[in-house]
Amino acid sequence: MSNLLLHTAETGHLRIIINRPKALNALNSTLIQELYALLQNHETDDSIRVVSIEGSGEKAFAAGADITEFQGIAPAAAEKLSRAGQACFNYISQYPKPVLALIRGYALGGGLELAMSCHTRIASSTSMCGLPEVNLGLMPGYAGTQRLSQLIGITKATYLTITGDMMDAQEAHAAGLVAKVIPDEEWSAQTDKILAKLSKKAPLATTAVLKAMMPARDVPDAYMAAEASAFGELMETEDLQEGVSAFLEKRKAVFTGR
Ligand code: COA
Repeated sequence: MSNLLLHTAETGHLRIIINRPKALNALNSTLIQELYALLQNHETDDSIRVVSIEGSGEKAFAAGADITEFQGIAPAAAEKLSRAGQACFNYISQYPKPVLALIRGYALGGGLELAMSCHTRIASSTSMCGLPEVNLGLMPGYAGTQRLSQLIGITKATYLTITGDMMDAQEAHAAGLVAKVIPDEEWSAQTDKILAKLSKKAPLATTAVLKAMMPARDVPDAYMAAEASAFGELMETEDLQEGVSAFLEKRKAVFTGR
């Protein structure tokens, strides 16, 4: 089964669906490469006016990076994984066409980092957003340490990242993480309407708006490099191994600080 499903509507809407429903659309490294390549292929396609990214099924946008890839991974490889995710998500944030994250269900860890790299986010009333990596003995590695603060302020972002707590859709809206909350029963009709509206806007003007606004969302590479390096180092710890084992064995982790 392909990791990504793709629909191009006549209206100029490129709809990307993350297609790993059994793993709650967890983002593995191949999927991230595929997403990067797919967007690159459409960057200069004038028939595409707007892009959306969503998860398959109703339960998750994406429940994080794929935790099974963290088993036994060496720090250097993990740092590389983090850098690859950062590069893809940075590319999305600078994309010349509007990219919307359509969040339904869980947007956690790498899933929320992907949504945060999009130009804006719309959430269903059932959504839950968070950066729960700390519960695995890990930390965000796809620029989430920077982008959550940009979007909701450092006070709330720090609290959420060190507790691993999730925000429901209303909290995410109040915090400024999502632009709009849509009742779940109206999800398809209302998101289709928004995307149809966007696909009719003047494309040059839309690109100019994004080009003017998005530099404010650039993440300095030194911060991303520091995040990737720390992410890599944590892979060697006993706590990370315990966190991943506990998740896979469906039990609570016990951390020792080693
Ligand atoms: N990576 C890999 N697999 C994942 C995953 C992830 N990030 N998130 C969920 N899955 C898998 C589960 O292992 C499970 O697989 P199984 O059916 O083979 O056992 C399946 O998706 C369903 O998840 P499950 O945990 O059984 O669903 P739930 O409804 O009980 O809980 C969540 C939902 C989102 C709360 C829970 O899956 C979760 O905490 N996921 C991890 C979130 C996270 O830490 N993300 C950051 C990763 S760096």
